[in-house]
Amino acid sequence: MANQVIINTDIQKGKINKNIYGHFAEHLGRCIYEGIWVGEDSSIPNTKGIRNDVLAALQNIKVPVLRWPGGCFADEYHWKDGIGPKENRKRMVNTHWGGVVENNHFGTHEFMLLCELLECEPYICGNVGSGTVQEMSEWVEYMTFEGESPMANWRRENGREEPWKLKYFGVGNENWGCGGNMRPEYYADLYRRYQTYVRNYGNNKVYKIAGGANVDDYNWTEVLMKNAHWLMDGLSLHYYTVPGDFWLGKGSAVDFPEDEWFITMKKALHMDELITKHSTIMDKYDPQKRIGMIIDEWGTWFDVEPGTNPGFLYQQNTIRDALVAGLHFNIFHNHADRVQMTNIAQTVNVLQSMILTEGEKMILTPTYHVFDMYKVHQDAELLAVDSSFGTYELNGETLPQVTVSASKNAEGKIHVSLCNIDHQNGAEVDLELRGLNAANTKVSGTIITAETMNAHNTFEQPDTVKPTEFTGAAVANNKLAIKLPAMSVVTLVIE
Ligand code: AHR
Repeated sequence: MANQVIINTDIQKGKINKNIYGHFAEHLGRCIYEGIWVGEDSSIPNTKGIRNDVLAALQNIKVPVLRWPGGCFADEYHWKDGIGPKENRKRMVNTHWGGVVENNHFGTHEFMLLCELLECEPYICGNVGSGTVQEMSEWVEYMTFEGESPMANWRRENGREEPWKLKYFGVGNENWGCGGNMRPEYYADLYRRYQTYVRNYGNNKVYKIAGGANVDDYNWTEVLMKNAHWLMDGLSLHYYTVPGDFWLGKGSAVDFPEDEWFITMKKALHMDELITKHSTIMDKYDPQKRIGMIIDEWGTWFDVEPGTNPGFLYQQNTIRDALVAGLHFNIFHNHADRVQMTNIAQTVNVLQSMILTEGEKMILTPTYHVFDMYKVHQDAELLAVDSSFGTYELNGETLPQVTVSASKNAEGKIHVSLCNIDHQNGAEVDLELRGLNAANTKVSGTIITAETMNAHNTFEQPDTVKPTEFTGAAVANNKLAIKLPAMSVVTLVIE
């Protein structure tokens, strides 16, 4: 069957919130420590302790929002341990992630500095599981109160005169699991109570995010919406792409057969069904779609690299991860009416990361390059697309071979992103630009692809998988004829 796409260039369906390109950095393994924070005295070039190479790479992809400090770590984190002179900060055990010592050198001030350097919005996740209402309330006061108060004065003593702007605040993380093993009814009550004391000081208006469901726990969404929808601005959802069994063996990041490629694509595509079904429940209580779906953890989760600490979740990243990222973005765009933010897990050295580091060395992953290629969609208007695609088949199972999304930016440029998930076959796509004469357009593009399913970048060969110019689009019969190689992600620019 032919692959056909019609882009209705004059039907705009609303803005693709740039926060869909958000990130997540937890105190886990080598994400914060080594990956981002090396300390002022490090021989690795840094800005007040934050490594410059990682900073520059993240600035390039225009990180819009960064979630911190967890994850599971958030519900064990006590923010007061992470402020004041570093030599006095409490050393604690990171019980959830590897049992290593956490010296608290990266705390609130360091995180806010990182966000300032990235010019992104901070998204802080508070502690419901093991913290008090007072502790959460005082954290918000410490960060955002302008006048004189015990917490604001303490902030000043610690070197920060002006309050920070803090928009996004999460009231706990995975409270059905590591965040307290709660029932939704109990968490809904706690959410109502804790969020009451997350105050708006001065002009700072907090966007409150309730801890949401795991995967297809639709009852969690139902109970939260029913009992607290009027008190929340966002509701989270977590879903990871795991090819194998979460506990018995997730599968290797690099060393995998073709059926694991296929199942990875299938599981990544499952995100569409999850968003649709959770949205339907949200619609019941919030038909105006005021409340954002905040998918603040997503991405691939494989077995850790052999020989690395199992609690550090360090995995390599191949062209397969690039396809998973592209598939997710096409899905998120097409649900832009409800999905207001997503945060890939995680930024550096953990799970599906953008960046891997080894001492002073740093490499960019195929996933990073997809974020770079897709950043043109940030805050652009989603365009209506009609499509029909042929199938990608393996062992009698089928998936659509191609996915697509398109947007128009403020300058009127159209960007179309296409993923061909087939690991063996190229795809020919007929693309019609309804409302435009294709013959009068200029088309260029970028592609990321590879020769092998497990192609990846290493510290020795950092550029094995990287974007190149795409030359596979030509005007034919007033349409664009596009040739997508196997295993490829393409972003076209149409002007
Ligand atoms: O991202 C790793 C972990 O996955 C997070 O800490 C937790 O929220 C989730 O289970």
